[in-house]
Amino acid sequence: MAFDVDMIKGVYAQLGDRIAAARKAVGRPLTQTEKILYAHLYNGAATEAYERGKSYVDFAPDRVAMQDATAQMALLQFMQAGKAKVAVPSSVHCDHLIQARVGADQDLADAYSENKEVYDFLASVSNKYGIGFWKPGAGIIHTVVQENYAFPGGMMIGTDSHTPNAGGVGMIAIGVGGADAVDVMAGMAWELKFPKVIGVKLTGKMSGWTAPKDVILKVAGILTVKGGTGAIVEYFGEGANTISCTGKATICNMGAEIGATTSVFAYDQEMSKYLYATERAEIADLADQVAEHLRADDEVYADPAAFYDQLIEIDLSTLEPHVNGPFTPDAAWPISEFAAAVREHGWPQELEVGLIGSCTNSSYEDLTRAASLAQQAVEKGLTVKAEYTITPGSEVVRYTAERDGILEKFSEIGGVVLANACGPCIGQWARHTDDPKRKNSIITSFNRNFAKRNDGNPNTHAFVASPEIVTAFAIAGDLTFNPLTDTLINKNGEAVRLDEPRGIEYPEKGFAAEDAGYVAPAEDSSKVEVVVDPTSDRLQLLEPFQPWNGQDYTGLRLLIKAQGKCTTDHISMAGPWLKYRGHLDNISNNMLIGAINAFNGEANSVKNFLMQGEGYDEVPQVARTYKAAGIGTVVVGDENYGEGSSREHAAMEPRHLGVKVVLVKSFARIHETNLKKQGMLALTFANKADYDLVQEADLIDVIGLTSFAPGVPLQVKLTHKDGTTHTFEANHTYNQGQIEWFKAGSALNLIRLQQQN
Ligand code: F3S
Repeated sequence: MAFDVDMIKGVYAQLGDRIAAARKAVGRPLTQTEKILYAHLYNGAATEAYERGKSYVDFAPDRVAMQDATAQMALLQFMQAGKAKVAVPSSVHCDHLIQARVGADQDLADAYSENKEVYDFLASVSNKYGIGFWKPGAGIIHTVVQENYAFPGGMMIGTDSHTPNAGGVGMIAIGVGGADAVDVMAGMAWELKFPKVIGVKLTGKMSGWTAPKDVILKVAGILTVKGGTGAIVEYFGEGANTISCTGKATICNMGAEIGATTSVFAYDQEMSKYLYATERAEIADLADQVAEHLRADDEVYADPAAFYDQLIEIDLSTLEPHVNGPFTPDAAWPISEFAAAVREHGWPQELEVGLIGSCTNSSYEDLTRAASLAQQAVEKGLTVKAEYTITPGSEVVRYTAERDGILEKFSEIGGVVLANACGPCIGQWARHTDDPKRKNSIITSFNRNFAKRNDGNPNTHAFVASPEIVTAFAIAGDLTFNPLTDTLINKNGEAVRLDEPRGIEYPEKGFAAEDAGYVAPAEDSSKVEVVVDPTSDRLQLLEPFQPWNGQDYTGLRLLIKAQGKCTTDHISMAGPWLKYRGHLDNISNNMLIGAINAFNGEANSVKNFLMQGEGYDEVPQVARTYKAAGIGTVVVGDENYGEGSSREHAAMEPRHLGVKVVLVKSFARIHETNLKKQGMLALTFANKADYDLVQEADLIDVIGLTSFAPGVPLQVKLTHKDGTTHTFEANHTYNQGQIEWFKAGSALNLIRLQQQN
């Protein structure tokens, strides 16, 4: 059994007291979000109220989940912490590295051989440190978490942006970077700005062609891709109780598309039913006993406008099916207006491929509803016009759907079942097309539809809809078809109409699988060896960074003075470099190659003062030369340096290549923290105009490190080429604990030292 009942019992045992303490501290009734968050404070019961959207708070999540692309560096780092086991239940899911080419069996076999070294590493490191390992083919991280680990009132983090999927089972589940996962697995606090709370009140009941997906497609249209930023979206109202648990998960999953921190539904009968269906009756029974804590206080539901930062109301009875896109998930079109939009904008009317499934939309209910349309197509003599693929979210869903004859219905209309993996959803799709330059349309039941996301082709117009709308469109092969009102011409030349889809929430015979793909970690792992091929170019064990030598920094060289925007993409580019995520030295060859050098206006071209003639060279190359000569370097940056993702590589690479100090006008907060964790000095100009004093040939000293203390600025001395100097103040935000990270060489070094003592 994969889930951990004792952990859940522990969480539930303290819910009542912790929520009571929070209610007292806050002095008013609490939303569901606040209850779960206050129940997971790192330092125990609340003693103060936190301000939504302002306060930074330390949390103790119950669980960590990692997908195979992001898990590599996270686990390589975790190994540095010197712990025998992870501090909280954790799991690894092999889903992102499987490419969809011809069909499940062959694609999975190919992935096994192409990614063997990564899988071997992830399996062995999971085995060693007590982490649940889900093999390639077991399924997509969020579906597997939903089926096995998600529980009402819990809190988890996952190294993937659609982690909020677990909100469908009443959990606060947040997508993070690998560095955050390392913190929690190592037993450290996990910090989050206390989110705002957006309430979405659902009234009425869906019917006909409308599906849970349409709720979030509508919400995306209202809030746009930025509208949920810094907020948790809480769904409630009598309409919420009419949506299946897996339908709730679909809605929460795609909350990532409005930028929400996460989304969550209150515990209800639908969740209980799902827990029973997935053989977790014990958890449902436990949740029943604390049900009052797994929802907002009654006063909140009675007067929601008084307690939510923003309130949206949606009447499910009148909600139309939606199609969102192209190129952005917030371009929301009710189906009744979509055909006109297609014509007006000149989007390619012919539909080339319909793709259903993914972590977002492959529940038993989704598949049975889509299959009911496939069956009608056969019965009514319709020829299916577009290509059609099905991506089951997990082996449990796939096996059950095969057993119950659902997959057969898809095969009958030419549907191709892909591996239980991310595949086309993340661009792992070797799409068959005769002309990639042709403007073309596809429609998916996935979540993201940015340009190039699915097939890497900028000419592909990708739309997002429910699996039933995708299936109807695939049958019609035409984006202007409205299945609610239009007819199609069958083989006999007759006009026929598709009846409303019909589905079954959960299988009558229960879910099943011959091998769900779970590998439990060894009880005694003392003899388990972590497998890393020393010749690998994709994986490399990490060496601990050197501790601080106890002296001020002197004679540092300027590596680059970056001008303008310098995001984590400029610092550690993605794309082709993703392959090297588990190999710090190789991926460091992308360090700062996107940053613009203030002295020549060029990217990836900085002066190397050790080179004869002091010529220009690529940034990583110059950094390596200084490092080899034992000279530390400084990166100078502009405003909001390091904005973008929480990618820890953007902090690890400079650290690896000998950068000692990052001195900027201002930091993006997460990147600043990541630099601190890696033992770097993250400083800001006390006077932003001092940025202009920094010259290309400067030697740089940082003075005051021997008395490094919270709130006390450091001094930076520039010695220019002509011998003149400038000294100015640099601020920092290190607290005492973070100063200890700096001294130890990194946060993980400190944990290891504490462990040894
Ligand atoms: Fe994978 Fe797409 Fe979900 S990439 S995790 S299937 S959002």
